[in-house]
Amino acid sequence: MKIKKFLLIILLSISLYPQTLFADEAKMIKGLEIFNETAGCAACHILKAAGSEGNIGPNLDTVEGLSYNSVMDIVTHGLGVMPAFGEDEILTKDQIDIISFYVANSVGK
Ligand code: HEC
Repeated sequence: MKIKKFLLIILLSISLYPQTLFADEAKMIKGLEIFNETAGCAACHILKAAGSEGNIGPNLDTVEGLSYNSVMDIVTHGLGVMPAFGEDEILTKDQIDIISFYVANSVGK
């Protein structure tokens, strides 16, 4: 019985691990598309990982303390000339989750 449980756990871990990896990879690919095309973040921001050179807003590679939550917050509510992508329903909640994940995992790369 114990061995069976143990084997089951091993099997589950092996089968679930790649899925989480693929899910993250899919988010990064979608995030790049939202950054450059859907939302046009690229028009205003430098982000080396995305190859963007916009300079209306700050260079995202050098923003201090940038995190998933801070990107989520500003993309939802906007600031100054930066549009409120969430409040103005330019992006869906899912898209904001993806772009925040993408930016937080791309800065400085
Ligand atoms: C029309 C130009 C414009 C677009 C489009 C735009 N931004 Fe911005 N963004 C700005 C400006 C300007 C600021 C600085 C606002 C301020 O401090 O007054 C800013 C600030 C930010 C910050 C905060 C930086 C800091 O100093 O803390 C983040 C993160 C950010 N933008 C991400 C994004 C993302 C992600 C997108 C796409 C969904 C995006 N921006 C689209 C102009 C833009």
